[in-house]
Amino acid sequence: MNKSYDVVVLGAGAAGMMCAAIAGQRGRKVLLLDHAEKLAEKIRISGGGRCNFTNIDARPDRYISENSHFCRSALAQFGPQNFIAMIEGHGIAYHEKKLGQLFCDDSSQQVIDMLDAECQKGGVVRQMGISIGAVRKDEAGLFWVETSVGVFGATALVVATGGLSIPQIGATPLGYRIAEQFGLPVTGLSPALVPLTFHVADAEAFAPLAGVSLDVEVRAGKGRFREQILFTHKGLSGPAILQISSYWEPGMDVVINLLPDCDVQAFLDERQSSEQLVSNALAELGWPKRFAEAWLSRLGFNVRLKDLSPKKRLQLAEQVQHWRIKPNGTQGYKKAEVTRGGVSTKALSSKTMAAKDVPGLFFIGEVVDVTGWLGGYNFQWAWSSGYVAGKNC
Ligand code: FDA
Repeated sequence: MNKSYDVVVLGAGAAGMMCAAIAGQRGRKVLLLDHAEKLAEKIRISGGGRCNFTNIDARPDRYISENSHFCRSALAQFGPQNFIAMIEGHGIAYHEKKLGQLFCDDSSQQVIDMLDAECQKGGVVRQMGISIGAVRKDEAGLFWVETSVGVFGATALVVATGGLSIPQIGATPLGYRIAEQFGLPVTGLSPALVPLTFHVADAEAFAPLAGVSLDVEVRAGKGRFREQILFTHKGLSGPAILQISSYWEPGMDVVINLLPDCDVQAFLDERQSSEQLVSNALAELGWPKRFAEAWLSRLGFNVRLKDLSPKKRLQLAEQVQHWRIKPNGTQGYKKAEVTRGGVSTKALSSKTMAAKDVPGLFFIGEVVDVTGWLGGYNFQWAWSSGYVAGKNC
C-alpha cells in the first residue's frame, strides 16, 4: 500500500497526539503512526495514574537545554493556561497537588481520551502496532516512511518518538536516528529525573535507612531544590533527588542540607553542657529517630552533647548542613522519567519546531534537547511544542 498524506506524525504520545490534532483541525490530512498497541502509554502511567498534566509556573527557567531560551516561544504560543482551557473544555476535573502541579482528579486516561477526541475532530488517521522502517526524502521534497503496513508519503514529517526512558513500554532511539540521518546534531543523552545510586560502602551503611524520608535542600551543579529525599536500598530517591539528577554529572558530589531551616552550629552551642544524646537533640528538630541514630553513628557523632568539643560541634554542623555524598551513578533509563539532551535546538526553529535546513521536517516533545523539571513541566513542553508544530506543519 502506498498512500499520501499532508503530514505523517511518528509517535502517538503526548506531543504527537497534540500535533496531529492541531494539524488535522487546520484541515491537514494527517497520519499518526506508532509501534505501541495503545495510545500514549506514558500519559497513562504518569503521575501515579492521575497525570500531572501541567505546571502553572511553566517558564523557561524550569527547563534544561543547551539553549535555555529555546522553549520560550512555544510556551508563549501555547502555555499552561491554554492546556487547562482544553482540559476544562472536556469537563475533566483537576486539582493542584503542590508547587503548581495540576493532576486529574480521576484518571490519566481522561487526558488520553481528550487528545483522542481532538484527533478525531481533526480527522486524524492512525495506525497503531506497526513497525517503522526506513524514512527518506525524495527529490520532489516528499517524505516517505516505510512501515510494516505499507509506505506512506507526506509533505511534512513530524518526529515525536520521545526519549529513551522506560524501554519496557516502547521507548526507542528512532527519533535521534532520523535526526542524524538528516544531518541534525544530537546532544549527549542521559537518564534524568532518576534515582541516584550509592557506592557499595555507602549502600551498606545506609541500608537500614531505606524508607526514611526527609525535607532537605539539595545542590549539584547549577541545581538547587528544597523538597523531600528518600533513602532506598540502592541510594537516594524522592522529588529532591529526581530534580537534582537532571543537573548531576558522573563524578560530582551532591550536597545536602539535612536541616535547612536551622542554624545547627548555634543550636549545638546553646546546648553544649547538655547530657542529651546528639541523636535525641536533632530528632527534636524533626529528624526521624532512626535516621538520627544511624546517620550520626556512621559519622561517629552519636555522643552526649556535652562531650562534643567546640571543634567537633563545628564539624558536625558542617556535616549536617553540607553533607556531601558522591553517587556512583543513576538507576538508568529503566527508572528515569525522562531523557536529558536530544535533537539540538541549534538545528530547529523555536517558533515552529521545524528543522532549519530540512524543509518539512519537525521534531517535538522529549526527543528535543529540552528537559523539564519534575512536576508537569515535561508534558507542558510536549503540548507546547506539539501545538506549534501542528500549526506549522
Ligand atoms: P512519549 O514517550 O509520550 O511518546 C512517544 C511515542 O513514540 C510513544 O507512543 C512510543 O510508543 C512511540 N515510539 C517510540 N519509538 C517508536 C518507534 N521506533 N516506532 C514507532 N513508535 C515509536 N511528565 C509530566 O509532565 N508529568 C508527569 O506526571 C509525568 N509522569 C511520568 C511518569 C513516568 C513513569 C514517566 C516515564 C514519565 C513521566 N513524565 C511526566 C514524562 C512524560 O511522560 C514525557 O516527558 C512525555 O510523555 C514526552 O512526550 P513525547 O510525546 O515526546 O513522548
